[in-house]
Amino acid sequence: TVSEPDPNERPPLSSLINMDDFEKAFAKSGSQKANAYISGASNDLLTYNANKAFWQKLWFRPRIMRNVSTISTKMTMLGCDVLMPVWICPMGIAKTAGPEGETALGAGAAASGIIHCMSTTASYGVEDILASAPKTYPFFFQLYVDKQRQKTEAMLKKFETMDQIKALFITVDLAVVSKREADERIRTQEPTSVYMSGQKNKVDKKGGGLARTTGSFIDWALSWEDLAWVRKHSTLPIVVKGIQSAADAKLALQMGCQGIVVSNHGGRALDSAPASILVLLELRRDCPEIFDKMEVHIDGGVRRGSDILKAILLGARGVGVGRPFQCSVMYDTEGVESAAAILQDELETAMRLCGVTNLDAVRGDLSYLNTSEL
Ligand code: FNR
Repeated sequence: TVSEPDPNERPPLSSLINMDDFEKAFAKSGSQKANAYISGASNDLLTYNANKAFWQKLWFRPRIMRNVSTISTKMTMLGCDVLMPVWICPMGIAKTAGPEGETALGAGAAASGIIHCMSTTASYGVEDILASAPKTYPFFFQLYVDKQRQKTEAMLKKFETMDQIKALFITVDLAVVSKREADERIRTQEPTSVYMSGQKNKVDKKGGGLARTTGSFIDWALSWEDLAWVRKHSTLPIVVKGIQSAADAKLALQMGCQGIVVSNHGGRALDSAPASILVLLELRRDCPEIFDKMEVHIDGGVRRGSDILKAILLGARGVGVGRPFQCSVMYDTEGVESAAAILQDELETAMRLCGVTNLDAVRGDLSYLNTSEL
């Protein structure tokens, strides 16, 4: 059965000092079902494991004696000024992690100077999530196109009146929800409406798990031509989330997108898809021009401030961090702020030790990197 996380079981927030600690704390005190949903990935977890492992094969070429007393981690992402180039990944049904769900992610992001990209399958409605931050604070919205296109059209129309939403991240790497075995093994009779606003009482009858039950509306007929249809209904910058090859990055540029996210859905889509960082390197090699023509973002296995620095040095403009933030919701807004503060501190430390004083100024500067192990 699905049970609420037990607050008595969780370690004190002050004892969590890195991103992995948040996932470990949630593994200890979150419900089994929520853990299987959040930490889970596809099939044999090959891509999930590779995401993290490959960040660790990228080394710095540090420079010394650069006067690193004053540094800046500021960046502009899709027209939004941020204190550090991080967005909290869109993740479905955040109430599985704690009662404040996405409102904790929204409030925590705003307090930390980063951006929450909210999911189509959020537990809370868009209005509630926007209201968790100051009135003018920016958000991104992650769009899954619905099989019933008129539902998506209505949503896009509504966003035109919501000034806080600054970009649409259209997720394209999950034409069908993949096989998540941990999620499937723990059956539950709880209807998904417990976690998700506006959902009919769908129950995990077929043993498909939370992911497959909440994702069954996603339109698998989506194709590149449909971006023109989205463009017709929205004036927001369009970012294609789930790019896994240089060929598709080029197509996104041709279609007039403002950005892409190199992503494999945190290893939750096609298993054996390449680690995100390998795809970023492929783009550098095969289509370096796209980095000047649109914003390139990346997510998957980013767990350290030094990973953020590596991504920026490779030319990314922003980095998404997923699971640790979802787990931090167990500590409400304070947990989200604390996770962001850890990343900020790690990023600043990595920059100082690498001899980098201004993050924006070194974007795409490969001279600080040693890629020989990749
Ligand atoms: C996701 N992800 C995701 N992506 C998306 O576009 N829409 C969604 O609704 C969800 N839902 C979701 C739920 C949960 C619990 C997780 C963990 C992930 C994928 C997410 O946006 C992102 O690509 C990965 O989570 C990044 O990898 P890391 O940082 O979790 O390793």
